Amino acid sequence: MNPARLIDGRAAAAGLLETVKEDVAKLQASGVSVTLAVVLVGDDPASHVYVRSKLLRASEVGIRSVEHRLPADTAQATLLSLIEALNSDARVNGILVQMPLPEQIDEGAVIATIAAEKDVDGFHRENVGRLVLGEPALTPCTPSGCLFLLEHTLGDLSGKHAVVIGRSNIVGKPMASLLLQANCSVTILHSHSVDARELCRQADIVVAAVGRAQMIDASWIKPGATVIDVGINRIEIDGRTRLVGDIEFESVSRVAGAITPVPGGVGPMTIGFLMRNTVLAAKGQSLKSVSAKPAQREILRCRATDRVSERS
Ligand code: GUN
Repeated sequence: MNPARLIDGRAAAAGLLETVKEDVAKLQASGVSVTLAVVLVGDDPASHVYVRSKLLRASEVGIRSVEHRLPADTAQATLLSLIEALNSDARVNGILVQMPLPEQIDEGAVIATIAAEKDVDGFHRENVGRLVLGEPALTPCTPSGCLFLLEHTLGDLSGKHAVVIGRSNIVGKPMASLLLQANCSVTILHSHSVDARELCRQADIVVAAVGRAQMIDASWIKPGATVIDVGINRIEIDGRTRLVGDIEFESVSRVAGAITPVPGGVGPMTIGFLMRNTVLAAKGQSLKSVSAKPAQREILRCRATDRVSERS
């Protein structure tokens, strides 16, 4: 069997970011500037790294960003007041509150407070509901990135059997909804699934989002299947820290038809879709504004490539 084709998330994200950059420039030329507010609470080192990359990407594509750093002992009421102020600030198009949050803060309350049209993470119940109903929505960035890579690799996904391993609100559940809208037959596997490996072996597409290092080996994969690895796990090998996915890459890449590496697969797509969602949010808000002129409306209209949010 030939080794699997590598799905290059860095190259795909670079292409996506080019399109986003062009959109931002067109919006600016029509008098609409695009702004993302990023809120970081506490000192989690990984969150600081993620936020730095998001701010860097935003500046590369011309999106203005406003950063709010709050101490780890911030009260929930203080954070909710900040979000409400950002909701009412017409200059802010997108709001991202970096997770995880300190334990005194209820993540659900935070997500519910963000205005749905500024929810660039796609976590708000209005966007979740819209996604499930097949209505235009801001969709979560990681699963949107996975769908993009799958369509980039396979073209039309209609009729394919997709198995999603993991049922988190951030990845597993929205991934299943996106695949269903792309006309796949979808199976979700989780910790209570019976015969998970056998079910997975029937899949044309496998999306692994369990958060357990190298859990899925070649015995789970049908020869020729397309495998998307969402996991980012740090493990120690010979005293050195290595990043690995939920897929056991060595064995699976000998069986699969195509596979994403870790790093360099899904990760770059997540930030790419955050930027794309920020542009979509800005377009949506401008379209609603009474002052939008016909020529501006043409620019603001979603493009064919914005298919996920357009599909109904
Ligand atoms: N923490 C880890 N991933 C994410 C994400 O996609 N969005 C937010 N807001 N926080 C995260």
